[in-house]
Amino acid sequence: MKQKMKSCCFLLFLEILILLSGCSSNDNNSANTLRIGVALYTQDDTFISSIVQNLEKLAQQNENQNLKINITIMDGKSNQTTQMEQIDQLIRRGCNFLCVNIVDRTAASVLIDKAKEADIPVIFFNRQPVAEDMERWEKAYYVGSKAEEGGKLQGQIVLDAWLNNKNIYDKNNDDTIQYVMLEGEPAHQDTLLRTEYSVKTLTDNDIKVEKLASDSANWSKSQAINKTTEWINQFNNNIEVVFANNDDMALGAIDAFTNAGLDIPLIVGVDAIPSAIDAIKNGTLCGTVKNDAYGMASTMLDLILKLYNDEKIDLNLQDEHYLWLQYEIITIKNA
Ligand code: GAL
Ligand code: CA
Repeated sequence: MKQKMKSCCFLLFLEILILLSGCSSNDNNSANTLRIGVALYTQDDTFISSIVQNLEKLAQQNENQNLKINITIMDGKSNQTTQMEQIDQLIRRGCNFLCVNIVDRTAASVLIDKAKEADIPVIFFNRQPVAEDMERWEKAYYVGSKAEEGGKLQGQIVLDAWLNNKNIYDKNNDDTIQYVMLEGEPAHQDTLLRTEYSVKTLTDNDIKVEKLASDSANWSKSQAINKTTEWINQFNNNIEVVFANNDDMALGAIDAFTNAGLDIPLIVGVDAIPSAIDAIKNGTLCGTVKNDAYGMASTMLDLILKLYNDEKIDLNLQDEHYLWLQYEIITIKNA
C-alpha cells in the first residue's frame, strides 16, 4: 500500500515537472525541441487566426528527426495586462522565441525589456510597435505589411471601379464620391493609415470625395452590420462607396445593405480572407487587398530557424528590425 502511494506521488510529481518544463507536455528531448511562444491580441480575429494556422502548419512541415517544433498560443483577450502575464509565463516555461501580436502597440517597451533580460528574441507581427521601442534591442523584430501601402491599393481599387462605372456608382450624378468609412480599432496602424491613404489615392487623382460618416467597428463583422445599418437609416440610399479597413467589416456592410433590401454600393475591404474572395466572385464585394497571412507566418518561421541555427539572416531585413510583406490587389480579375 505504502509502495503504491509512493509511486502514485512520484507519477504526480513527474506530471507536474513535465507540465512546468516546456511549452507543452510531449517534448522530453529538450535538446532538439524548438519552443515558440505566440501571444495574440485576441484569438477571436479571422485574419490573425489564419496567420496562426499557417504558422502551425509550416512548423509541422519543418519538423524532422532532429528537430521538434513546439508552439504555445496565448489569447490576450484584448487586454494588455493579461498579455504581459502570458509573456511572463512563456518566458518561465522556457520558450526560445516569442512571437507577439501586441494588444496595445504603444506598450512594447516593457515587453522588449523582459525579453531582453531573458535573452529571448521577440518577433512582433501585424500590430506594429512604435519605432523607438523597437530600437531598444537588436533582437526585437517586426514582421508585417506597410499599412499605408494597403490603403493606397484599396484606393486604387475604388479609383478604377469608379472611373469605369461612374454611371452606376455615382447615384446622385454629382461627380463626387459620397462615402462612409468603417474603421478598425482606434490607434491601430492599419486603421490610421488605411483610412488616410485610401482616400488620399482618390484625391491625388483629382476625384472629388465627400465623407458622410466614419467610425470604428473594431475589425468586427457584427459591429459593422450595426454601424452600416445606422448609416443606411441616416443617409437613406445616398451611400456610394463603403471603405472598410478589413474584410470582416466589408462583409458586415454587405449584410447590412442586403438586410435593408437595397442594392449594394461599391464596397472594398482588406485581407483577402476566403469569405471575401467568395463575395468578390459573387459580385457583392468590389475588391480587397491581400494581407499576406501565409507570408507573415513563413517569414517569422524562417527568421526563427535562422536564429535558432545560428545562421546568417539573409532575409530582407530593413532598418535592422523590419521584415516587410507585400500587399496585393484582388478583384474579379484575379480572384
Ligand atoms: C489587420 C487586419 C485586420 C485585423 C487586424 C488585427 O492587419 O486587416 O483584419 O486582423 O490586423 O490586428
Ligand atoms: Ca455622388
